[in-house]
Amino acid sequence: MESFATAADLRARVAAWRRDGARIGFVPTMGNLHAGHFSLVALARARADKVVASVFVNPTQFGPNEDFASYPRTLDADRAGLAAYDCDVLFAPDVRTMYPFGAGESVRVDVPQITQTLEGKLRPGHFAGVATVVTKLFNLVQPDVAVFGQKDFQQLLVVRRLTEDLCLPIEIVAAPTWRESNGLAMSSRNRYLSGEQRDRAAVIHRTLCAMRERLHLGRAHADIEADALVELEAAGCVPDYAVIRRAADLAVPTAAERRGLIALIATRLGRARLIDNLPLDP
Ligand code: PAJ
Repeated sequence: MESFATAADLRARVAAWRRDGARIGFVPTMGNLHAGHFSLVALARARADKVVASVFVNPTQFGPNEDFASYPRTLDADRAGLAAYDCDVLFAPDVRTMYPFGAGESVRVDVPQITQTLEGKLRPGHFAGVATVVTKLFNLVQPDVAVFGQKDFQQLLVVRRLTEDLCLPIEIVAAPTWRESNGLAMSSRNRYLSGEQRDRAAVIHRTLCAMRERLHLGRAHADIEADALVELEAAGCVPDYAVIRRAADLAVPTAAERRGLIALIATRLGRARLIDNLPLDP
């Protein structure tokens, strides 16, 4: 596996691949890679001739009081893991490479509507940072196919929307969520949890499954959401939301809607802020 830090080196490699007619797969990440990330690399591997993964802790998607400074940076281990998954190129740029005019002065990609709710509402500017860096990375890597995790469901919708609306010729593939044996969705932020908190965090997936069960039993959305909050709090979580939304656009469904829905949870637990979701169709 080759590692590049500059746009020029990456572009030279991509241009050579393109001349050979290779189909290019791309997996953008912020590093501290775990089995969930590697499953995305395996999906890209199966759908493309060449695979690029990026590791870049993107400053513009972190709020002023968030964990940009302390976000785990483990580039050597990430490089070894990617090589083991048969990745062809690791692109690990610095902030100046991604933001030549400074992170605060960047041209920004603002995706409307879908960014105004849930994570976008609670983390102002977050999705503009994500959309901007993903667009820049797409322009650098010029992939034919890019893989994103369903774990960050709203992010996946934002990326789909920007790809379509900016007319980018890139297929966006959604990858299923990888979980610990207790159901906790794998996340780089799980390392902020103590062993005891990791055990307790199983309540998030358990609650999502209960929400699905109760929807199928015909319970009202509002009751299901209220019970979910109570269950999260009983386990020591401080939830931001536990909601049922339309999977297509995260709009609030009418009381009668039962299909095409998804349950989403965001909660604080100790030092960590965790998100997870579960599609609710049978
Ligand atoms: P990061 O949190 O590192 O995640 C990189 C990719 O891995 C995302 O598509 C995410 O949804 C996926 N992923 C994370 N945990 C997963 C799990 N348990 N199972 C399956 N996939 C999982 O998301 C970002 O980075 C950034 O916002 C980024 C898109 C790279 C832009 O900076």
